[in-house]
Amino acid sequence: MKVTVLGAAGGIGQALSLLLKTQLPAGTDLALFDLAPVTPGVAVDLSHIPTSVSVKGYGKENLTDALEGADVVLIPAGVPRKPGMDRSDLFNMNAGIIKNLVENIADTCPKACIGIITNPVNTTVAIAAEVLKAKGVYDKNRLFGVTTLDVIRAEAFVGELKGLPLEDVHVPVIGGHSGTTILPLLSQVKNVEFTQEEIESLTHRIQNAGTEVVEAKAGGGSATLSMGQAAARFCLSVVKGLQGVHVTEYAYVEGDGSDAQYFAQAVVLGANGIEEVLPYGELSDFEAKAKADMLDGLKKDIQMGIDFANQ
Ligand code: NAD
Ligand code: LMR
Repeated sequence: MKVTVLGAAGGIGQALSLLLKTQLPAGTDLALFDLAPVTPGVAVDLSHIPTSVSVKGYGKENLTDALEGADVVLIPAGVPRKPGMDRSDLFNMNAGIIKNLVENIADTCPKACIGIITNPVNTTVAIAAEVLKAKGVYDKNRLFGVTTLDVIRAEAFVGELKGLPLEDVHVPVIGGHSGTTILPLLSQVKNVEFTQEEIESLTHRIQNAGTEVVEAKAGGGSATLSMGQAAARFCLSVVKGLQGVHVTEYAYVEGDGSDAQYFAQAVVLGANGIEEVLPYGELSDFEAKAKADMLDGLKKDIQMGIDFANQ
């Protein structure tokens, strides 16, 4: 098994690579690629941790080597938000980065499962899909927008509010990954009662949690540590799936298109990537209205990616 991280020297990349070095199954190769000159040093640093995961760093001339034989590629490469910005403000900087990196994946490891972390995820996943289609290697079961952070945040906030042991809290989060497109399904949380006021304030907090971090970091970037944890959880689940153990995770994927072409929902991961996209079940009136209200925005985000990739 080989896992490659593109953007491995950044805030997310380093946290994620540390967690992967300590948690991937023994025998896995971990390839770290970034344009930043520190990248070989990050790999050397991690290589001093005694686990049976081998780490190698690759600089800007060696993207093909980093991708050669990869089973999973995670992409946190790109620019993060500063206070006052929306995720869509990152489009101009990050769209081209995703296009270029995914073209290289298509040429070098077209069968890899790809997890896109780079924002705006609602749009960058659509760009990636179009690039893969143009290269004739698109497999909707192997392309994911990583939305695990929305799920772990929802679980942390609900657990904190209700004083519950966190291992017992499971919150479905569907839709997309920005603002109101992030839709937590609090009506489906088991063994917890919420007042309408709690539902509204928790939903708002989960939708704005990224901004909460951006503002607290005051110009120093966005979530990196919680995102590293979220991406590691996602990656470990994909790897388990590839090894034949079925695992369920939420991710932004191409499902049946009944809501939007790409939509975050629960997927069963297996030997070929997504084995099954699971229905999200019944929504409360509040959730159904929130979904109806955000779908046009999500579809516009997706169309922007399709247009960019095909221009
Ligand atoms: P960062 O600036 O700390 O790191 C980004 C890294 O990407 C840098 O090391 C940079 O050198 C590298 N990079 C830039 N262009 C590259 C290229 N073409 N190839 C390889 N590497 C390249 O930023 P960060 O805080 O790690 O955030 C990265 C991205 O992740 C941002 O777009 C951010 O908005 C996004 N993000 C997404 C989520 C999510 O839930 N999906 C959560 C947090 C952040
Ligand atoms: C997040 O949710 O923390 C990320 O998408 C980063 C951001 O810009 O908010």
